[in-house]
Amino acid sequence: MNWRIKSLEDILATAERRSLHRSLGGIQLMMLGIGAIIGTGIFVLTAEAAQKAGPGMMLSFVIAGFVCGVTALCYAELASMVPVSGSAYTYSYAVLGELIAWIVGWALILEYAVAASAVSVGWSNYFVGAVSRLLGVSLPEAFTKGYFSGGFLNLPAMTIALLCTGLLILGTRESARVNAVLVGIKIIALTVFVILAVPAIHSENFSPFMPLGFTGVTGAAASIFFAYVGFDAVSTAAEETKDPQRNVPFGLVGSLVVCTGFYLLVASGAIGTIGAQPIFGPNHEVLSPGSAEFVAACKAHVGDSMLACSGEPLAFVLQQIHYNKIATLIGLAAFLALPSVVLMMLFGQTRLFFAMARDGLLPSFLNKLHAVYKTPYVVTIITGVGVCIFAGFFPVGVLADVSNSGTLCAFFMVSVGVMILRVRDPGRARSFRVPGVWIVGPLATIGCLYLFFGLPTKTNLIFLIWTSVGLVVYALYGYRSSHMNKANG
Ligand code: ALA
Repeated sequence: MNWRIKSLEDILATAERRSLHRSLGGIQLMMLGIGAIIGTGIFVLTAEAAQKAGPGMMLSFVIAGFVCGVTALCYAELASMVPVSGSAYTYSYAVLGELIAWIVGWALILEYAVAASAVSVGWSNYFVGAVSRLLGVSLPEAFTKGYFSGGFLNLPAMTIALLCTGLLILGTRESARVNAVLVGIKIIALTVFVILAVPAIHSENFSPFMPLGFTGVTGAAASIFFAYVGFDAVSTAAEETKDPQRNVPFGLVGSLVVCTGFYLLVASGAIGTIGAQPIFGPNHEVLSPGSAEFVAACKAHVGDSMLACSGEPLAFVLQQIHYNKIATLIGLAAFLALPSVVLMMLFGQTRLFFAMARDGLLPSFLNKLHAVYKTPYVVTIITGVGVCIFAGFFPVGVLADVSNSGTLCAFFMVSVGVMILRVRDPGRARSFRVPGVWIVGPLATIGCLYLFFGLPTKTNLIFLIWTSVGLVVYALYGYRSSHMNKANG
């Protein structure tokens, strides 16, 4: 079988031929990273993590952060060797060949596009909260929740997805500038939360620490992993970065370190102030967050301060400890800043499609650049419409889990790839080398598998179906139209 491995020389040459403008620096890249990382995960999914693990979600944050940390090191090495668009997809092409690259690229669609939908839905929670707190108006559930989460159509989520698509069409530089302001807002919001919540911690709120045992902690780690996703979007911008050899590793690792610190402080503040025990059904059965039974049980608990039941947990915590005005402001900050994550995820997706179409695996009309804005507008519009549809119908937790499954597949390949290249191409220049690669690499691969199988079985199945569909598309289109195919005659 011909694996169609694309040589690193070829990849770098293709990027030279049809390249994007290099305009981003190291700090800008780290800001892009933080912009992509801090989002719905901490602002919304903290409640789901409480339902799955109780206070043990602290451990979940540590586990998920650790897996991302070791994977980020692997990403940094590959990104510094292959500083072109497409991240894990491009690296897999160079290391494992076209078929695996296709599978990874296809999985990354879940990561980026579905994540953009998830964050749009998370944003919609804060939008509804802001409207209710500021204007005293309760918006109807039918049009603020998707069909599969007890409503009909999530219009706010759909709107934000389309607005972000428009911004991206206007251009990377503009988007990066808007992004920098929004990142600032998020950091201030989380800092204020920590300053107010941490002094109000009561140690008894941490007990029982693992009401659903370690299985619960694993399940929450697999879901809360979403909170860390995004650092790899930095590497998708490698082709638009000045001095990528130095700046890409800096942006990747730096953004992850900053975010992990915040998450642990925020999670301990939320748990310690109001507790984080899960909610049980009438027969003490464990309820899955977002399910109809869970929603019903939460309705019966209105008035109790249940973190697990809140759609906007950080604002909720501050309200419970009587910082009502600041709760409104934190809600507003999430409302203003979450779109920066949608933006980054959409950005990652469009650049991934860009790389796949450039290789001939997707039709080349997708890569048409806009005459005025010089952005790949066709692919951006198609992505935006898809993201908008998913955001309109599905609940945030389901979207986040599905997105995680794709991300973990890509992360797994990246950590395998880094080890293969060390063996196959040991002499190639690496401006960043993973320290202790034979410990870090295996830890990253095992960590990704552990989290993947920690996701709900339904999610694993959706991933399998998605991958199968991808293989059919590859067999019918990509295999033949691939430039590697044409090059081989
Ligand atoms: N990490 C990003 C978020 O939590 C995707 O929203």
